[in-house]
Amino acid sequence: MILAAGVGSRMRSARPKVLHKIGGRTLLDAVLSAAEGLAPSRVVVVVGAGRHEVERSLSGRAVAFATQDPPRGTGDAARRGHDLLGSGEGPVLILAGDTPLLRTETLRRLVEHRRRGGLDLAFLSFRPPEPGQFGRVVRDGRGRVARIVEAANAGPREKKIREVNASVYCFAPEPLRRALAALRPDATSGEIYLTDAVQILISGKGSVDALEAADWREAWGVNTRRDLASAEELERRQRVEEALDLGVTLLDPATVRLGPRVTLSPDVVLHPFVSLEGNTAVGEGAEILPFTRLVDSQVAAGATVGPHCEVEGARIGARARVGPFSRLRPGSEIQEDAHVGTFVEIKNSILGKGSKAPHLTYLGDADVGAGSNIGAGVITCNYDGEKKHRTTIGENVFVGSDTQLVAPVTVGKGAYVGAGSTITEDVPEGALALSRVPQTNKDGWVERRKGKKDEKQG
Ligand code: UD1
Ligand code: CA
Repeated sequence: MILAAGVGSRMRSARPKVLHKIGGRTLLDAVLSAAEGLAPSRVVVVVGAGRHEVERSLSGRAVAFATQDPPRGTGDAARRGHDLLGSGEGPVLILAGDTPLLRTETLRRLVEHRRRGGLDLAFLSFRPPEPGQFGRVVRDGRGRVARIVEAANAGPREKKIREVNASVYCFAPEPLRRALAALRPDATSGEIYLTDAVQILISGKGSVDALEAADWREAWGVNTRRDLASAEELERRQRVEEALDLGVTLLDPATVRLGPRVTLSPDVVLHPFVSLEGNTAVGEGAEILPFTRLVDSQVAAGATVGPHCEVEGARIGARARVGPFSRLRPGSEIQEDAHVGTFVEIKNSILGKGSKAPHLTYLGDADVGAGSNIGAGVITCNYDGEKKHRTTIGENVFVGSDTQLVAPVTVGKGAYVGAGSTITEDVPEGALALSRVPQTNKDGWVERRKGKKDEKQG
């Protein structure tokens, strides 16, 4: 069960809190993804504030939505979720929708901890550098968990407790029913707190224990924009550390951004200000040069991309070289050993093995065979104002500089196209195509013109 119905007023935002993003995905998506890693038999998300937007953000995911309106606290939200979940046999994991750094592995440890101890409730605690607004975990003289006290209700001694509640609970089904039924509104705020379940179960002789997160950072909860910025940086730092542990070189770890679905390989080198997003994969020994952004793209081993490249939905083959200042749009496939250079834009096109487009080119909807050379300033005119058309260029073709290829058009294998041509008809294999106006030189023209001017003035 994921609690995501709160207003999140401390964010000062028109957007529901759980739809704010870190690492390119929403807080709620991050929490749900961590939970999905456990292969739960059912997932219920409790929604309220901005519920249509929140539901839409999870369209296509295997979840059911319970509604809590108005939001009257985490305990009340858990009741709404429980109504929909119904009474089952298995344990129930309850998470907050605003703790985006949680990892499946930690959830698994918590579930195991409850199971092994046969506990009514096991919840996750952590020790951040400052306990701040988090609920304090109060323990008795023998170190056993006694209750959770919210920061607002904590006395001066309790305020100093550094172990705090992460809002991650694993309940046995029957104790959960009992605790939810027994929750009462908090005397000061009037809200119903799920945290009170701890004391309720303990006073009924139930068994409750807290499991401390190995790394406090992953239990970090987001209530304010400051928390959000901290979460972004904590996650960024975590991904950077994972990359370093994997054998990636980062020349300036402070400026590199790595999304949650990015996969890297040993001996990859990432230069400063590189951003890897979406389903991006970078193969062994590939090097991404400064100020380059890759989204949903595959870079094969030994390739070089950047500096200053914008790459989305592209595949870059082994040892290919892309950049500087190249833009690869969705459907671009740069095959092995090919080269894309300065101010080249490619969309929905294949650049064959070892082919080159080194300068100032647009290839849109084109298939270029292996070993071809696309000269400076070559443009595929793929759009006739209504439809897009393809350009096909065979192997070992030489397209001279400043050529326009008016699609649909085919240039046969081994052909040459003279510089400055506008190609509107197919070029046969092995032919030379020239469509420019033949040059004429007028000998002595400059001198003659000067003579005429002098006559007029005289
Ligand atoms: C909560 C815990 C606190 C803990 C902290 C960890 C309570 C009372 N306090 O405090 O002990 O240290 O999380 O991050 O539980 N929600 C609803 N309906 C509501 C209220 C909240 O669905 O009526 C949802 C929110 O959308 C949010 C989650 O529950 O995703 C937690 O609520 P929030 O108000 O952020 O609780 P905290 O004050 O952070
Ligand atoms: Ca919170």
